[in-house]
Amino acid sequence: MALFGKREEVQVDRERLPRHIAIIMDGNGRWAKGRGLPRTAGHAVGAETFRTIATYCRELGIEYLTVYAFSTENWKRSADEVGAIMGLLQKYLLEAVRDMEKEKVRFVFFGDLAPLSEELRELCRQVERDSAKFEGCQVNICLNYGGRDEIVQGAKAFARDCMAGKVDPERLTEEQFGGYLYSAGVPDPDLVIRPSGEERISNFLLWQSAYAEYYFTDVCWPDFDRAELRKAIGAYQGRSRRFGGV
Ligand code: FPP
Repeated sequence: MALFGKREEVQVDRERLPRHIAIIMDGNGRWAKGRGLPRTAGHAVGAETFRTIATYCRELGIEYLTVYAFSTENWKRSADEVGAIMGLLQKYLLEAVRDMEKEKVRFVFFGDLAPLSEELRELCRQVERDSAKFEGCQVNICLNYGGRDEIVQGAKAFARDCMAGKVDPERLTEEQFGGYLYSAGVPDPDLVIRPSGEERISNFLLWQSAYAEYYFTDVCWPDFDRAELRKAIGAYQGRSRRFGGV
């Protein structure tokens, strides 16, 4: 660990980076409240943080970044707040379309997009389609996503294939079942980060994070920056992953 000025800087070992980082972008509301601002102002800054962190992950060579943008439970929030989050997403995606050939990021959406407005749903599909050719970094945006809901959707799809005689339930493996989830083809997250001081998983990537390393910090998402990401990766690199072995 090197010291630069007063701030402790963590250096990451670029040879041992996590392949897949997943983030619960939490604390936007509290960050805003602490500054006497509306919750939506926290989401607006949070969207910028997402941009910074996604760019940094790409620069570092992280292959997959998955973020929890809107859960199946977030519909319980006020219409104003839901509308503001959807508006920020739409703005971000329109900018992603504009900058696509420069950024070269592949976007995939995890979640049931059916309840979204037709305009936003079509934009998500367009971004997914147009960015599918990029191979460097894949950003998965969890939108109307819930880990339990994902497993139920996967179980239904598997049951349909059983009824159609395409698969034999007795031969189902964990790997095969993973292919029925939104994350089909994506390696499991190595590191799951939750800022804002909350230490729970909140229905995020339940199946996929079976052996993920968790990193919690009190910093709220709008204040999460490159140095915070380096701290998270540094903590991850200090762990011993045994996957149930010794
Ligand atoms: C959790 O903080 C955050 C959300 C539910 C929304 C996250 C959305 C964004 C960062 C903006 C749009 C996203 C993208 C990808 C451009 P919270 O509101 O639960 O915070 P609190 O726990 O402090 O209330």
